[in-house]
Amino acid sequence: DEASLRRYLDEAVAAAQEAGNLMLECFARNDGQSCVEEKGTSVDLVTKYDRQAEELVLKRLRACAPNFRVVAEETANKEELTEAPTWVVDPIDGTTNFIHRQAECCVLIALAVKKSAVLGVCYIPKMDELYTAIRGHGAYCNGRRISSSGCKDLRSAMVNQHLPSYSRGVKVVDRIMGLSRDLLTHPVRAMRCGGSAGVDMMHVARGRLDAYFEVGIWPWDVGAGQVIVEEAGGVCRDTLGGDFSLDSRRILAASSPELAEQVAQILRKHRYSSLDAE
Ligand code: IPD
Repeated sequence: DEASLRRYLDEAVAAAQEAGNLMLECFARNDGQSCVEEKGTSVDLVTKYDRQAEELVLKRLRACAPNFRVVAEETANKEELTEAPTWVVDPIDGTTNFIHRQAECCVLIALAVKKSAVLGVCYIPKMDELYTAIRGHGAYCNGRRISSSGCKDLRSAMVNQHLPSYSRGVKVVDRIMGLSRDLLTHPVRAMRCGGSAGVDMMHVARGRLDAYFEVGIWPWDVGAGQVIVEEAGGVCRDTLGGDFSLDSRRILAASSPELAEQVAQILRKHRYSSLDAE
């Protein structure tokens, strides 16, 4: 019910703020570069701060809802996302930005039920922005209602494409460049390249960006963003234009269904649903 969701949201906000404060301590100490570790590949990175932040967040969430499942980025032997109520957590989204002292990195917490986010929190400590949403009750930044831009036309859209952090194979890079070429010459008004799925979804939710897409993402990258974007009047789709699913590893978030379809048309041409086989 709504009262329980509000209680869960309050705990998720407190957890995100604790983790965000840890990020700010790292910024203040200028410590990020000194604790870089590689995960799967030399461009997929983690730091001790990701792990500490995740510990803080999970401790709080487990205390408030001991029966919920947890799917979190830094947990070894990750469980699959099921239909059961699940906390979906990315303690630091945009780790590479974080290491390079860029402001665009955040803490992401979602509660998913039946594989769809029912509440979401995104805290961007360096920008002092706290985003929240409960399904059916609107999206907010620092307590104020937000809405997406409503942009319907690629020609006036700013679109953000991410480069994969798990592969730099020539075939992968060529596919991405081919796609960028097509978008740029279409033409879109502007293209950007981001470093945090969470932050870019917040930009779409509050109308600073009109669309963001990526393949290879995980539920913790997009869970909080799904409910915040949708509650702000934007849409989340599959990169090919179909229904969004939290565990399909692809996302197209846009300011309107019309814009989503225009971007998806180009993505379909490039069969942009996965880069795994490259
Ligand atoms: C990554 C960032 C990045 C996106 C990747 C994500 P992480 O999250 O959001 O911008 O391109 O797909 O995995 O690893 O920094 O939490």
